[in-house]
Amino acid sequence: MSKLLVTGGAGFIGSNFVRLALTRTRHEVVVFDALTYAGNLENLAGLENDPRYAFVKGDIRDAAAVRAVFEAQRPTHVVHFAAESHVDRSVMDATAFVQTNVVGTQVLLDAGRACGVERFLHVSTDEVYGSLGPTGRFTEDSPLMPNSPYSASKTGSDLLVRAAFHTHGMNAIVTRCSNNYGPYQFPEKLIPLMIANALENKPLPVYGDGKNVRDWIHVQDHCEALLVVLAGGRAGEVYNIGGDSERENLQVVRRILALANRGEDLIRYVTDRPGHDRRYAIDSSRMRDELGWRPSIRFEDGLAATFRWYVENRDWWERVRSGAYRDYYERWYGARR
Ligand code: NAD
Ligand code: TYD
Repeated sequence: MSKLLVTGGAGFIGSNFVRLALTRTRHEVVVFDALTYAGNLENLAGLENDPRYAFVKGDIRDAAAVRAVFEAQRPTHVVHFAAESHVDRSVMDATAFVQTNVVGTQVLLDAGRACGVERFLHVSTDEVYGSLGPTGRFTEDSPLMPNSPYSASKTGSDLLVRAAFHTHGMNAIVTRCSNNYGPYQFPEKLIPLMIANALENKPLPVYGDGKNVRDWIHVQDHCEALLVVLAGGRAGEVYNIGGDSERENLQVVRRILALANRGEDLIRYVTDRPGHDRRYAIDSSRMRDELGWRPSIRFEDGLAATFRWYVENRDWWERVRSGAYRDYYERWYGARR
């Protein structure tokens, strides 16, 4: 039987992945997470009594702590989600992005190699490819041209994983996914932020002209793809994962307003994000042709279900929107009025 060490398992995608892995597979799962502002044990609530699940609090930048968890738990596989993940925060201060995303990834690779893990799956993003014009889609061969400190740090980590394969023969794989949405997403990212603001009758801050395009994928589809890659992906390979659901930001915002029964007067056009990538779109034909995976959730259905989740779990997002979140919101959006 396999034992997965899931870094960042208390975050948005990681916690959805842990639930799916425990339901769909017989793997044991050990979550290793520093519980930063984005990590939340509530995201894993209900799993505490599952004998196949364990949680260890720790920081991937801390080589001794990482070594200790590998020695104590002896995982066979690593699924590496832990990262600083929000572009806007990387614009304000890139330090933690370099430390966690770049240095932390190398710490994990070293420990995984020393302990002889069978496979290291590095969860990355389409943002490493930079920005597209009106046509075309990113393939695995598209040049790496990151534009934000976040995407630059993720590119650095992707290249360290590549080097671990080529130099040390490590069984390592990189996945690059487009924008996720779904339950447990921290309400600083577009979709949960707009849902929470609409429900609270607060302004919806749209950057620039609102015509930037993202290729949305429901987190469930992403997590299913990761299980497929973990089981059948080729070592040293990159796999693009996309939702085949390109939408302009304004389309997404308008649909959320309709779901919330609110008028467009809540939309506020605010100063654009510096270096804002115009368009992302993913070609996932390698996932389809080689591994038989394709996304299954239609964006409009997934968005409606996600909206319902935020309505039904108001306590969750009201709690995470208190405290330090308010300082962040004021600092970032206060400067863009
Ligand atoms: P998130 O911000 O919701 O969660 C990140 C998790 O990592 C949190 O639980 C946090 O506590 C933990 N973490 C942060 N720094 C850590 C450290 N130093 N040591 C240990 N744990 C630490 O992020 P997410 O949206 O779930 O993204 C997860 C991964 O998927 C990231 O690597 C991200 O780059 C990638 N990704 C995200 C998206 C997306 O749309 N959200 C798309 C493609 C790829
Ligand atoms: P985001 O969810 O931050 O993801 P990413 O920048 O990693 O793609 O943003 C998605 C899109 O929404 C992006 O084009 C920026 C835009 N956006 C806004 O217009 N307003 C906001 O308040 C936020 C957070 C994002």
